[in-house]
Amino acid sequence: MAYKDLREFLAACKEAGDLIEVNRPISTDLEIGKALKKSYVENGPVIIFNNLIDKSFPAVGGVFGNRAKALRAFKATNDDVHEKFIQGLNNPIDPIIVENAPCQECVLTGDDIDLFRLPIPRFSPRDGGAYVTAGITVSKDPESGVPDIGHYRYQLHDKNTFGYFAQPFHRFGKNCIKAKALGMKKLEAAIVIGTDPVLGYTCQIKQVADDVNDWTLAGGLRGEAVELVKCKTIDLEVPAYAEFIIEIEVDFTQTRPEGPLGEYTGYMTPASDKNIAHVKAITHRQDPLFQVLLTGKPITENHILKNIPFEASFLNAMKKEFPTISAVSIRPSGGVQLYVVIAMKPRYAGEARHAILAAISSNVRPKWVIVVDPDINVYDAAEVEWAMSYRVVPGRDIVIVKDVPSAPLDPSSRGGEDLQAKLNDVIGIDATLPFGEKFAEVADVPGWKEYDFPELKR
Ligand SMILES: Cc1cc2nc3c(=O)[nH]c(=O)nc-3n(C[C@H](O)[C@H](O)[C@H](O)COP(=O)(O)O)c2cc1C
Repeated sequence: MAYKDLREFLAACKEAGDLIEVNRPISTDLEIGKALKKSYVENGPVIIFNNLIDKSFPAVGGVFGNRAKALRAFKATNDDVHEKFIQGLNNPIDPIIVENAPCQECVLTGDDIDLFRLPIPRFSPRDGGAYVTAGITVSKDPESGVPDIGHYRYQLHDKNTFGYFAQPFHRFGKNCIKAKALGMKKLEAAIVIGTDPVLGYTCQIKQVADDVNDWTLAGGLRGEAVELVKCKTIDLEVPAYAEFIIEIEVDFTQTRPEGPLGEYTGYMTPASDKNIAHVKAITHRQDPLFQVLLTGKPITENHILKNIPFEASFLNAMKKEFPTISAVSIRPSGGVQLYVVIAMKPRYAGEARHAILAAISSNVRPKWVIVVDPDINVYDAAEVEWAMSYRVVPGRDIVIVKDVPSAPLDPSSRGGEDLQAKLNDVIGIDATLPFGEKFAEVADVPGWKEYDFPELKR
C-alpha cells in the first residue's frame, strides 16, 4: 500500500524516530536554509517548523533528506529499490479523477491571494529572493494535452506573481517553447506542494519519452492510482491529497529578472530576464503544511530526489541494449548527473565503449562515464578507484569526446548564456578487464563475507 499523502509519510517518519518539531520562532529569511543544511550534513530527521515569523502556515523540510527516507518512501531496501522502481516503471497505472478533494478545502482567489503569507524561504544571502523549490509543476503539452510533472523553481516577485526557471530540455520548458511557437501568450500550470513523496521521485525519472503521461508512472511506482481533482480556475488536474496547490498562468508577454539561486551543481546560477507567472488561485487543506527544500552544493534534498529515479530509469533503458549491465551508480557528489559508474560483463571486445557512448548520448548528460566489471561494487568509491588504478591502460582505455551537449548549468561548459548552446568535453573510462585475455588473479581472502565473526559486532 502506498502512502496516501505527505501526512501518512510523516507519521511513518515519526514512528521511526525520524521527525522533530521546532516550536521556537524561526525566520524563513536565511534561518531555514542554515537549519536544513546542518540537518542534511548530520543525516538529520524530517523537521516541522511550527512557528515561522510573520507567516501563516508551518513548513516541513527534510522529507527527501537522505537515502533512508527515500527507501522508506518506496517501502524498499537498498538491495531491492532499483528492481522495485523498474517494476513500477514498466507497469503504469492510470490516475483516477475525484470530485471532492482535501487539497481544495480552502480556496483563495482575487485579493485573498497573498504569497507573502506562505513560508517561502530565502535560503542564502546570495539568492535573488525567496524561492519555492519543493513544488511539483503540472503542465500539459499545448498540442497533445499530455500532462507532465517536474520540479521547477519559483522566485517570489510580489503577492501574486512568481518568476520561474524551466530549462528548454525539461518538459515544462518544452511545453512553454511549444506554446510560444503556437502563438499562445499564456500557458496554465499548477504548483503542487506536499504530497506522497513517491510523486516527487516520479518527477525525476529520466529516459522516458515526452508523450508519457507522468501520472501513470506515479501510479505504477505507488502500486496504486494517483487520485486527481480538477483545478478551480485552470484546465489541469492535480493530486487530491496535496497540502497546497498554486494555480498559475505563465505570461509570455512579460519578463523580470529571475535569480541568482544556488543550484544542484553547487554553484550559483546567475540572474537573467525570464517570463513571469500570475497566480490565479491558492487552494489548500485544513491546517496545511508547506514543504521546503534546500538545493545547492551536494548533497542536498535535490540530489536525494534524483538519485534513485535517475539510476533506476537509466538502468532500465540501458539494459535494453546492454543486457549484461548489472548496476549503475549516478553519484550524488557529482550532482546526480556528471559522474556515472556502470558495472557490466562485456559480451564482445569494445562493448564497454559502446555503453560509454550510449551513456554520453543519454538525457542524463554525464561528463564522466566509468565502466567496470560486475565484481566491482559501483557504489563503493574505493572499489571503483581500485579498478581504475590497475585495470586501465590510459592510452588504450580512455575515450574523450569533444563538444558534446552538456549539463547546461555546469559552470565549466562553453556556450555563454544560451542554455541550448552549451557544450563540453566528456570522458569515458573503460575499466573492465581486457576482453578475452588472461589477467592477474585477484588477491582477496575467499569466504570472508560469509565468515561468522560474532565478536566483531559492537
Ligand atoms: C528540487 C529540484 C528543483 C529543480 N528545479 C528545476 C528548475 O528550476 N528548472 C528546471 O528546468 N529543472 C529543475 N529541476 C530538474 C527537473 O525537475 C528534472 O530534470 C525533471 O526530470 C524534469 O522532468 P520533466 O522533463 O518531466 O518536466 C529540479 C529538480 C529538483 C529535484
